[in-house]
Amino acid sequence: MAILITGGAGFIGSHFARRMIHQGKRTVVLDKLTYAGNLENLKDVVDNSKTSQLFKFYKGDICNQELVEHIFSEEDIDTLVNFAAESHVDRSISSAGNFIDTDMKGVFVLLEAARRFSIKKFIQISTDEVYGTTHKDAFRETDALNPSNPYAASKAGGDRLAYAYWVTYELPVIITRASNNYGPNQHPEKFIPLFITNALEDKVLPLYGDGRQVRDWIHVEDHCAAIDFIMDHGKDGEVYNIGGGNERYNVDTAHFILDELRKSHSLLEHVKDRAGHDRRYALDCSKLKSLGWKAQIKFENGLKDTIQWYEDNQSWWKRIKNGEFVEYYNKQYKHRFAGTVLP
Ligand code: NAD
Ligand code: DAU
Repeated sequence: MAILITGGAGFIGSHFARRMIHQGKRTVVLDKLTYAGNLENLKDVVDNSKTSQLFKFYKGDICNQELVEHIFSEEDIDTLVNFAAESHVDRSISSAGNFIDTDMKGVFVLLEAARRFSIKKFIQISTDEVYGTTHKDAFRETDALNPSNPYAASKAGGDRLAYAYWVTYELPVIITRASNNYGPNQHPEKFIPLFITNALEDKVLPLYGDGRQVRDWIHVEDHCAAIDFIMDHGKDGEVYNIGGGNERYNVDTAHFILDELRKSHSLLEHVKDRAGHDRRYALDCSKLKSLGWKAQIKFENGLKDTIQWYEDNQSWWKRIKNGEFVEYYNKQYKHRFAGTVLP
């Protein structure tokens, strides 16, 4: 039997695929290789003759029903972990179409195939963004969903559709909602890698608004360990929050990065805020903790290692930043710098 990891060439999916392969599991990855997908993320397992035997890659779209059913019938899949998504909030604000396709319709195609082939476990990787912003308490799994940007809303659609397949068809679905991930191989469009790589290039670090938004950071390896744990110990039909327990103001994270790299704090610039910017994400993870799991990596240690990884792997991110990214960055950030400096 094999595990199917959709979106396995992306940031989190590639870490999870490596983890499965190193455990000796036959691992099939289906990935469309969008701007965010990168097979280089799995170069170590592909280039190693021992691990490459356990690995098979299909380039394609999770919305392609024929391809998805072909993989199910060819590969003897018993578990599916769906990481495939359009994942960047700012891109969803500029243009939401791909988000609706992949994060909602794609989930539907996977669920239908999983039902048809009677698989044993379907893990839908959702996100804490489905709860929206919190002003007071950390969110529990039973709280109402209140997504506030097109990415979060499309993920909420996938999340609830997966749940409906459990209730209606008893498809063994588990839904996970993690907080903000960081670590090696994260695309430089995201806050932490953007700020590290801009600092390394002596470019401005564009901090949205007053920078007092709060994110709860979890190291990608902690997140993958949690999913692995939930595959063994989680209950079908349940939702599990996965938080890092590291709530930080963005502005403090930015200063930490500059200090670590011994760069001037004058590189930091307050720019026009993100539309509908969620102020704070916070998760109550007592449900997962009661099963015996909690995050291990302290944010400042994990962030130091991550900064080091970006220093040591400049060819990885420079290739990305020199490609499609140039156009994206100009379009996305030009208007933000237009005379909007805050204190
Ligand atoms: P990512 O953008 O780095 O990777 C997404 C991967 O999905 C890419 O490899 C891309 O090529 C692939 N993909 C996109 N559309 C596809 C399609 N239609 N068919 C097949 N493959 C497709 O994203 P990530 O940060 O690794 O996030 C992975 C998952 O985890 C997403 O579902 C995201 O919503 C969720 N999540 C992310 C975070 C975070 O902080 N990054 C936190 C919680 C949950
Ligand atoms: O919380 C989980 C979510 O975390 C995931 O579901 C998403 O896939 C992932 O992208 C992430 O969403 P965020 O919007 O929180 O991440 P992002 O890296 O885009 O931004 C983190 C914070 O940093 C947010 O408050 C916006 C701010 N920011 C971001 C960028 C890119 C800036 O101040 N400047 C920037 O240039």
